[in-house]
Amino acid sequence: MEKLIDIVKKELNSSSHDFDHTLRVLNLALKVAEHYPEANIEVIKVSAILHDIARVREDTDPTHTIDHAELGAQMSKEILKDLGYEDAFIEAVSHAIRSHRYRGSVLPQTLEAKILSDADKLDAIGAIGIGRSFMIAGEYGERLYIEVDERNFEKAERINNFKDHSPNIEYLVKLRHIIDRLYTDYAKKVAEGRLKFMEEFFERLKLEVRGEL
Ligand SMILES: [Fe+2]
Ligand SMILES: [Fe+2]
Repeated sequence: MEKLIDIVKKELNSSSHDFDHTLRVLNLALKVAEHYPEANIEVIKVSAILHDIARVREDTDPTHTIDHAELGAQMSKEILKDLGYEDAFIEAVSHAIRSHRYRGSVLPQTLEAKILSDADKLDAIGAIGIGRSFMIAGEYGERLYIEVDERNFEKAERINNFKDHSPNIEYLVKLRHIIDRLYTDYAKKVAEGRLKFMEEFFERLKLEVRGEL
């Protein structure tokens, strides 16, 4: 496990997807797994540590063709093979990594993959989610707040021009819908509390920006 952590740390930088995110996902995944005694804890641990290993490679890819879930699954296979892990274990980990992405086309099929996906989603909402959304806003040069008609964002798609983007829009477009992409009942319960807090935060932010509070 120490070796894996070293390898992952070398690949990550200080961003919203840094090693702290990896550790929070690991911790959350283990918490979710407490409610599923049949889950393979070793698969969950290794998947959580490796899940965003290709994130920086995707973010810095000039061709914008790298999918960090897919590349991360491939890199993990090689790394685990070199470390002597068994084939079935490697398959289980690489499936979890390949399917962890919110917008990915591969959906989690195993309990361990569902738990990793849920833990990763939970780290995008609540107070942490707010903090991370502003980290991302800083990374991409987004604005602090953009006043929008919320009814127009019921089914909005991904926004590509970051000057027109802000954390409150990310919340409307994506983050508040994360609960619909969760698999485990435990994660759904945690998500309810986190989303309630986010809703209150962005409501208050709106009023402060307007100068009403
Ligand atoms: Fe990811
Ligand atoms: Fe992640």
